[in-house]
Amino acid sequence: MTAMTDSPRPAAAVPPNASNPHFGDPDWWRHAVVYQVYPRSFADADNDGTGDVRGITEKLPYLAELGVDAVWVSPWYPSPLLDGGYDVADYCDISPTFGTLADADAFIARAHELGIRVIIDLVPNHSSWEHPWFQAALAAAPGSPERERYIFSDGRGEDGELPPNNWASMFGGRAWTRTTNPDGTPGQWYLHLFDASQPDWNWANPEIAAMFDDVLRFWFDRGIDGFRVDVADSMAKEPGLPDHTVNPATGLGSNGKEVGAPHWDHPDLPPIHRRWRAVADEYADSELGGRIFVAEAYIDPIERLVEYVRPDRLHTTFNFDALLSEWSAASQRAVIAKTIPAHESVGAPATWVLGNHDNVRVATRYGKPVTGVDFSAPGEAAAGDPLELGAELHGMPTDLELGRRRARAAALLELALPGGAYIYQGEELGLDEVEDLPESLLQDPTWERSGHRIRGRDGCRVPLPWSGGVAPFGFGTDAAPWLPQPARWASLTAEKQDGDPASMLTLYRSALRLRRERGDFRGGDFAFHGLDGGDVLAFTRGSQTLVVVNFGSTPIELPAGEVLLSSVDLVEGRLPSDATVWLAV
Ligand code: GLC
Repeated sequence: MTAMTDSPRPAAAVPPNASNPHFGDPDWWRHAVVYQVYPRSFADADNDGTGDVRGITEKLPYLAELGVDAVWVSPWYPSPLLDGGYDVADYCDISPTFGTLADADAFIARAHELGIRVIIDLVPNHSSWEHPWFQAALAAAPGSPERERYIFSDGRGEDGELPPNNWASMFGGRAWTRTTNPDGTPGQWYLHLFDASQPDWNWANPEIAAMFDDVLRFWFDRGIDGFRVDVADSMAKEPGLPDHTVNPATGLGSNGKEVGAPHWDHPDLPPIHRRWRAVADEYADSELGGRIFVAEAYIDPIERLVEYVRPDRLHTTFNFDALLSEWSAASQRAVIAKTIPAHESVGAPATWVLGNHDNVRVATRYGKPVTGVDFSAPGEAAAGDPLELGAELHGMPTDLELGRRRARAAALLELALPGGAYIYQGEELGLDEVEDLPESLLQDPTWERSGHRIRGRDGCRVPLPWSGGVAPFGFGTDAAPWLPQPARWASLTAEKQDGDPASMLTLYRSALRLRRERGDFRGGDFAFHGLDGGDVLAFTRGSQTLVVVNFGSTPIELPAGEVLLSSVDLVEGRLPSDATVWLAV
């Protein structure tokens, strides 16, 4: 063991096991299928209406049967949940709402027993305003060491009544909130790129970097296999905090896609990533090895994004262009054609993503008249961000049957591409966005901060339907879930889909089994095939696997070959519209 600390490591997890032959491979992350759990909405073991860690543990056999390699758990830390847990009050504990550290240990051990790696969320750009260090900062004087941990500044204007600069919050409104002095007079301002309840850490202060090193080791020591890094392109800010552009269309803050922004993708960021990488590498010789990071960074063009996954920085990054791409051959082809070589150029695996807790569910999005961004359009480098796209889609009608058909085709496209893939909980059930949640129940801070213009992301966070014919569909026993489930989900429960050859769940299970077993999918070989062109996307994996996606309206002839898996039944041997087939050739 090369670890620099000599803190005791808990007993190592069980070795590679029968249910996942690749479990013990330190390079597991280069091919992994990762399943995202949003703990609030996954499974409610204690029946209080909110999901919990024990609920996740109880469902691990379901995930093992699905065939995933890893599970990523969105924040499970103590938090007032003002941004669904992305407002962390204590980085080294479990929210009492979700359970205890002992529950987390049991979850990690059970996951490893079942051959599933565990990734948790690291939220390093900001804490909750309930974090003890922020409370101490508020209580301390301007210029004090306590205030130096966050970004406090005097206001502009005669009496400091104007914010220190013009930065806007990603959720709407300004990125600054003014404090009140103990004597009741107005005080300094603090920075929050997101909600006011999420003050930004001051990464120019070495104390913050050291604190996060401890957080990483705390969880690595407990056996977790990696971190998903929230807003991995922020943290470093231009000294002096100069003004910057606000999106005039939405009033929201700019995101990391802009080159030269003072608070995104800043030159002081790479050293932070390198430092974390070094901590993860300390664990290379530990029992399982293979401790990794995956970056959340909405960055374009791809040449900038892959800088994040150079060998001395983070291991992988979400491919949000794939997520935000419209459902068309040209756009999907353009994303694939730029993603694969760009990642190869730095030696990192690509990843493929259809959805997450910030985006409109794929079955709904693909049933809209607009399904995303066209990356094949000339000069199209930058997609919008999830909130903007979500707001645009919200008013549009949905053809859910079409959306689900395309979501099936998209799953077989995603899972056939080289590198890693992400499944957001419920995608494997074909769940749709709940677009008609009553306004009084909306919790996303964007709803209030945008002046009720943007409803936000609650519609993709509704608790999962597991079983039975009425809500809560086995989420808990009988408690009302924190967001109401639609009655139509009775036909989409995991129980109902189990064993049904036509169900989305069966399609995912079959795809993941084939992907795991078939050597062609494990190698890096990828080449566009002669069939590719127009509305047909076609590529080979290895020497014997052909993948064909028909985005057009007429069925297409297929070359000779054995059908391994198809998203719909072939019609007289031809592939109908909005469908994908895997062929052994
Ligand atoms: C990331 C998370 C999102 C959260 C934001 C602020 O984008 O995915 O849910 O609101 O960061 O932490």
